[in-house]
Amino acid sequence: MDIIRVEGGHHLEGSVAVSGAKNSALKLMAATLLAPGTTTLTNVPNISDVHVMGKVLKRMGAEIEVVDEHTLAIDTSHVDSWEAPYELVAKMRASTAVMGPLLGRFGKAKIAMPGGCNLGARKIDMHILGLQALGVEFDTEHGYIYADASAGLTGTNVTLEFASVGATENLIMASVRATGTTVIDNAAREPEIVDLATMLNEMGAKISGAGTPVVTIEGVEELTPVTHRVVGDRIEAGTFLVAGALMAGPAGVEVTGFNPMHLNMVIRKFEAMGVPFERTEGGLRVRRAERIEPIDIQTLPFPGFPTDMQPQAMTLSALADGNSIITENIFENRFMFASELVRMGADIHIESHHAMIHGVTGFSGAQVSSPDLRGGAALVVAGLIAEGITEVSAVHHIARGYERFVEKLSALGARVEHASVPDPDID
Ligand code: EPU
Repeated sequence: MDIIRVEGGHHLEGSVAVSGAKNSALKLMAATLLAPGTTTLTNVPNISDVHVMGKVLKRMGAEIEVVDEHTLAIDTSHVDSWEAPYELVAKMRASTAVMGPLLGRFGKAKIAMPGGCNLGARKIDMHILGLQALGVEFDTEHGYIYADASAGLTGTNVTLEFASVGATENLIMASVRATGTTVIDNAAREPEIVDLATMLNEMGAKISGAGTPVVTIEGVEELTPVTHRVVGDRIEAGTFLVAGALMAGPAGVEVTGFNPMHLNMVIRKFEAMGVPFERTEGGLRVRRAERIEPIDIQTLPFPGFPTDMQPQAMTLSALADGNSIITENIFENRFMFASELVRMGADIHIESHHAMIHGVTGFSGAQVSSPDLRGGAALVVAGLIAEGITEVSAVHHIARGYERFVEKLSALGARVEHASVPDPDID
């Protein structure tokens, strides 16, 4: 069994560069399907979710050249299959992002139904309703969704019930090739959506309003391949900022490679908790919070507080001088992490989608298990300040979205390593 072992209590210092954003890279890879030829993506994070998306595209007939560790040249000229198979969708729900581009380019897609995941039910009804409005017909059989737009996609007005990231992206990627104009109202505004629209516009699409609640897409006849750099990962950056807020030495920790504007709400909340930040040329420097103030946070679509930073924020608030409240509005199962943190000495009471956190004076190292990607990373961060040794298992979750997490923390001075321990004997 692979674990990450952390010895707590060592100061962090220096600078860490974040990788390209997972949640952007995956959609940009899917979007290459729209432009026959070779699209080159740079600043692609070397993480397991990207490897899965690579497999999805290859299964369809794309050729992928790994130019260097962070550059992929994806040739979609010879794509001749429109299927995202179950074994890959089950590994990574974001495989469903190929639905929009497949419909845009070929007018058909066969996608395994994603089912739930560690974060909850995670339906895709809004993707389907929106695509139906564009003229796509759906059928489900044997666990697969068959989408057919052979009669053509026609631009229309779609109002999303909730500003879903995935639905907004699938709708944008389908409607770039529709006849006429599509308007998505209540669209998600995440920086990763802006990155996607930017690349599609570079390819020849006509998308305006990305990053606002109303996105307008004027359909075009064709898209051509480009070279595009993936936006920096704001969530990876936020995770290192929390590590610094807890354990930075006197010189602080600088985090670079991302746009601090993408973390506005996170920085505001952390400042209110007493975390000192300073802008630097390449990003942000964080210093250790002398005293952590309690906080009230609720997760919301961008520009609200990101659900992907909720476990890291909970780690910080668990050491506050007082009682904090965190409300999770996006994913119903995202508090699973809290019970692991309790094993390290946190005092957290969950009531439906609210967490009441009574600050404690310290964590004690323990054996804990990553419930999911962000929760796993937050447990490693908690281990940095815990007394003694923390062993985090189920670390494959962390590898999905954090490139060289252990190595980057070690370079800052953390005592953290990958280790292998025998699987527990169960009689
Ligand atoms: N939802 C529906 N129906 C839909 C679509 C969404 O009910 O058709 C619900 C979901 O079940 C969820 C909420 O709406 O409760 C938000 O879902 P959204 O579609 O916005 O999220 P997503 O596209 O599935 C992406 C990221 C997540 C991130 C969320 C929110 C990717 C690959 N994933 O998911 O990232 O938390 O947006 O910002 O882009 C992570 O990186 O750890 C991660 C989970």
